[in-house]
Amino acid sequence: MPTDDRSTPPSTPVGPPGEPLRPLEAAELASAPFPYLRWAKAHLSWEAMTAGAPCLGMSGLEPLDAEARAGLGLSPPPEVGAAIANLKAALATRYALSPAHVHLAAGTSHANFAVYLALARGGRVAVETPGYEALHRLAHAVGADLALFARDPRRAYRVDPDSLAAAVDDRTDLIVLTDLHNPSGVRLAEDDLARALTLAHRHDAHVLVDEVYADFDAQERPSAATRDDRVITTNSLTKAHGLPDLRAGWILGAPEVIARIDAWDDLVHPSLPPGPMVDAAAYVPQAPARLPGLRAEAAARAAQVDDWVQATPRVSWTRPDGGLTGLLHLEGLDGDRVAAAAWADQSVRAVPGRFFQQPEALRISFMLPEAELATALDGLRRTLAGCA
Ligand SMILES: Cc1ncc(COP(=O)(O)O)c(C=O)c1O
Repeated sequence: MPTDDRSTPPSTPVGPPGEPLRPLEAAELASAPFPYLRWAKAHLSWEAMTAGAPCLGMSGLEPLDAEARAGLGLSPPPEVGAAIANLKAALATRYALSPAHVHLAAGTSHANFAVYLALARGGRVAVETPGYEALHRLAHAVGADLALFARDPRRAYRVDPDSLAAAVDDRTDLIVLTDLHNPSGVRLAEDDLARALTLAHRHDAHVLVDEVYADFDAQERPSAATRDDRVITTNSLTKAHGLPDLRAGWILGAPEVIARIDAWDDLVHPSLPPGPMVDAAAYVPQAPARLPGLRAEAAARAAQVDDWVQATPRVSWTRPDGGLTGLLHLEGLDGDRVAAAAWADQSVRAVPGRFFQQPEALRISFMLPEAELATALDGLRRTLAGCA
């Protein structure tokens, strides 16, 4: 388990010479993963700048003004100062939390990395399988051991309690789940989250729930982060909102956990691009009105795939609770071979199940216009019929 970065104040406060640091600030600074950036954020940020005071501290050029940017064919600069605060406030409102419960990130990938780095580096992580490959590989990236627990396909991808219990012990820092589950699209059962939380409390660990597909769930539910201080959730606008270009993501958690993540994130992503954050802040309050239509469309496509599955030999699946992906089990067939043949013979792309630790499977994403989806599924059926 990583040491708590803020729990070991140094004997003598350190900081740049002449800086009037309060003792708490000095301890915080000295124990920060990246002390210089902590200091710079406090003293050189836009919010901290004092108009008219000469500054010898900036390490980059003064940002170009609107006129200079126009001369270069660039759009005007976004409102820098308020962008981050506005987005945090919008997310806090959406989840009925405070801004201190929110850390912004450049997408869920970055959010997940920041959580692993802050809470599990050099430690141990328990992650679901089948699962999103990055959540496994991130453990190694932060020098942590990886233990896997099963989502059981015979029980609609419910967490297998025995394998969860076997994967978590006193060395565990993080227990990691997705909701909706990637690749199957099933909802995280309340009991399964409760079981993970019981273990987290018993072994002094945290539970990370990647909720990047949760907004697609046909059933509206609060974020798992609102349930217990040991839960951290990650999310973004890249999947269920059609705004991948913004790379706007976030982490929700208890303020003291968010503070630890924030400090470690200094090493990774010291600041976020304000332009996309401005758009994200404008979008977030509108999300609840948009989501029902998107969910209904995804449900109609899932029903279309379900009909196809029922009528196609050697294929089965657990119908997703929401979202736009599902895992097709291919009886006795190799997913790599089927994916390659579907592309070569029918120009249909599907993801080999091997990437989700399921070699006899394909993951398909079905949020296509109805007719296009029908054509793709027909092509896949022809490929399957030709497979020995
Ligand atoms: C479970 C899961 N988390 C995170 C990501 C990446 O999300 P983002 O684009 O927000 O980085 C993916 C992408 O497929 C995913 O499946």
